[in-house]
Amino acid sequence: MPESTISRRNFIVGIGAAVGLAAVPLVLQDTEASAAAAKDIPWAYTTQDPLAVAKRSYEVYYAGGCAEATWYSIVEALANDSSNPDQLLWASLPKKLFAFGGGGISGWGTVCGTCNGSAAAIKAVGAPNNLVDAVMLYYAETPLPTNGVELAVAAGGWTPAKTPRPNVPTCVGHTQLCHASISAWTTMTGFADGGPEQQDRCAKACFDMTKKTVELLNEWKATGALPTVKLDPYATACASDCHSAKGIAPQKTKMACDSCHDTDVHPVVK
Ligand code: HEC
Repeated sequence: MPESTISRRNFIVGIGAAVGLAAVPLVLQDTEASAAAAKDIPWAYTTQDPLAVAKRSYEVYYAGGCAEATWYSIVEALANDSSNPDQLLWASLPKKLFAFGGGGISGWGTVCGTCNGSAAAIKAVGAPNNLVDAVMLYYAETPLPTNGVELAVAAGGWTPAKTPRPNVPTCVGHTQLCHASISAWTTMTGFADGGPEQQDRCAKACFDMTKKTVELLNEWKATGALPTVKLDPYATACASDCHSAKGIAPQKTKMACDSCHDTDVHPVVK
């Protein structure tokens, strides 16, 4: 048996045991535990308060990074929801599972952790890929951070442990990559990568991405509605031209091509 299979089994048995202990009398533990362990995702989603989960995401950022913030704030909300049929499964997930995703995966600056954590939560509840596309595009094309955190604090009843900085500049990253989007922001603002200003920007981006993700999940849960996905014009034009999966030169990306490639290769009018 390959090593990966063995560790996956141990991991799942561990989860089952935790669920069993929390949920049922001792005598039933084994049966209940294996029943719980056998349940693959998707696990049930129940409607959550986008603002409350977003606030939590802002806080979790400072403890576990951006991917953990977007992932765990949603997991925790579902774990605390007694109306959720899979509450105990959600509650069995450990904290810090997504700490690896901080800094674009352990400081590699690849996919932004907020995209990573949000996409994981979306797929864990079985929502379609449109929602993943929508949050990926939201990250790249929204001036971030929004003033959502400041408005939430101003509304009262919430005093975050880390006081948000006022009136921070926003920037459209035009990419889902951590390195490129943070560089765009630090270049524009003059603040250093790794400094308190950048952390403030990313904590607020966690708030924004989590709020967006929960809003999309709520809408999907309530009506089955899927967001309209409009890729960057370059991605659309280049894909329909030649680079779709079925084109003459297929490329596996939905990212904005012009964020890396010279646009005079394929000029596109936006
Ligand atoms: C994050 C940066 C990035 C983005 C975004 C990106 N690419 Fe690329 N692409 C690259 C790199 C790097 C290469 C490899 C270039 C090389 O080795 O010469 C490449 C290679 C290619 C090639 C092969 C070029 C050749 O000469 O064989 C094509 C075609 C291509 N990309 C199309 C696209 C299209 C279409 C999109 C948008 C839908 C896109 N790329 C988005 C970075 C990117």
